[in-house]
Amino acid sequence: MPGSSRTPTATCWPAAWPSAEYGPVRRLRWTPTWSGLRSRCARTITVPNTISVPYPGSPTRRRHSDRRTRHDADHRRDPAEGTAVTAGPDTATVLITGAARGIGAATARRLAASGWSVVLFDRDEEVAEAATSIESTGGRALACRGDVTAESDWAAAIEHTHSTFGPIDALVCNALVTDHAPLHEMALASWQRQLDVNLTGAFHGIRACLPDLRRDRRGAIVIVSSVHAGFGLPGVPGYAATKAGLTGLTRQVATEYGGEVRVNCVLPGPILTAQWDGIPEQDRAASAAETVIGRLGDPDEVAGPIEFLLGASASFVTGATLTVDGGWSITKNSS
Ligand SMILES: NC(=O)c1ccc[n+]([C@@H]2O[C@H](COP(=O)([O-])OP(=O)(O)OC[C@H]3O[C@@H](n4cnc5c(N)ncnc54)[C@H](O)[C@@H]3O)[C@@H](O)[C@H]2O)c1
Repeated sequence: MPGSSRTPTATCWPAAWPSAEYGPVRRLRWTPTWSGLRSRCARTITVPNTISVPYPGSPTRRRHSDRRTRHDADHRRDPAEGTAVTAGPDTATVLITGAARGIGAATARRLAASGWSVVLFDRDEEVAEAATSIESTGGRALACRGDVTAESDWAAAIEHTHSTFGPIDALVCNALVTDHAPLHEMALASWQRQLDVNLTGAFHGIRACLPDLRRDRRGAIVIVSSVHAGFGLPGVPGYAATKAGLTGLTRQVATEYGGEVRVNCVLPGPILTAQWDGIPEQDRAASAAETVIGRLGDPDEVAGPIEFLLGASASFVTGATLTVDGGWSITKNSS
C-alpha cells in the first residue's frame, strides 16, 4: 500500500487561504420540504454580488451563515415530519478520509468546486498538496494528516475543522488498505490491519463526527465500499470481508440515526487509481472488458454519485447501496 510504512502524525494545518473572492454571483437553491412542495414554494434565487465568502469566522462570514441558518430553519427543516434534509454546499463542511489521492481526492475536488468546505484527512503527507491544489482553484480546503485508526487523530482533525470551518455536515469514509494473499497465507497482523483501517476506521470516524452530524437533523454519511462486498475474488479475503462489513454498517447506522443522519454506501467497480499500480496492462484490459461500458472508471465518476448522495437531491435516500461499476456486476449477478 502506498505510504503504509509511514508513521502517521496527528498534525493538522490549514493550507493558505486564497485572497480572491469566490465569483461574482452566487446561486442558492431553495430545496423544497414536503410542506414546501405542498405550498409550491420551491424556487431558485440569484443573490447579487454582495455575498463574498472570506476566511471562515470573519464577521461577513458569520452574517452569511446566520442568514442561511434562518433560511434552513424556515424552509428546509421540517422536524415535525422527522425528515433529515442534507445540508447543501455554500456553507456546508464535509470531511473525507483517504483524500490524498484517488477517489477521495477526486471527491474533495468535486465537492469543493460545488461550494463545500472540504477537510481532507489522510495519513499520507501528499494530503497537503491535494488541499493546496483545491485552494489554488478558489475552493475552501483543510488538510488534516492523521490515521483513521487513531481516536486522538480524529479528535485533532475535528478540533481543527471546528476552528477553521465550524461543525461538520457530512462525512465520507473512504480510506483503505489491502493486502493480497489467499487466506491460508495471510498473516494475522495483515488481516487485523485491514479490519482496523477499512472497518474500524469508519467506526471511529462516524463516532467522532456524529455529534456534529446529528446537531440539526440533516447530516449525511457516504461509506465507500466495493463491488467485492458481494462477489468473491481470489486473494483478497481481508478486503472483501471489510467491504461487506461496511455495507452492513451502512444499513445499521442508517437505522439507528434515520431521522437525523442519512447514511448511504457506494460500491465502486474497477476505477483507475494507485490501487492499479503494478497491475499489468493485459489484466487491466481484462477488467475493463468485464464492464459493460468497456473501460475502467475514472475517480471523478465515483465522486459524482458521492456528491449526489450527500446532497439535498438525495434527501429521501438512506441505507442504500449505489453500485458504480460500469456494469461490472450485472454480468455476474443473475438475480
Ligand atoms: N480503485 C478501485 O478500483 C476501487 C474499487 C472498488 C472500491 N474502491 C474503494 O474506493 C476507496 C478509495 O480507493 P482508491 O482506489 O482511491 O485508493 P487509493 O489507494 O488511491 O487511496 C486510498 C487512500 O487512503 C489513505 N489511507 C490508507 N490508510 C489510511 C489510514 N490508516 N488513515 C488515513 N488514510 C489512510 C491512503 O493514504 C490513500 O490516500 C476505497 O475504499 C476502495 O476500497 C476502489
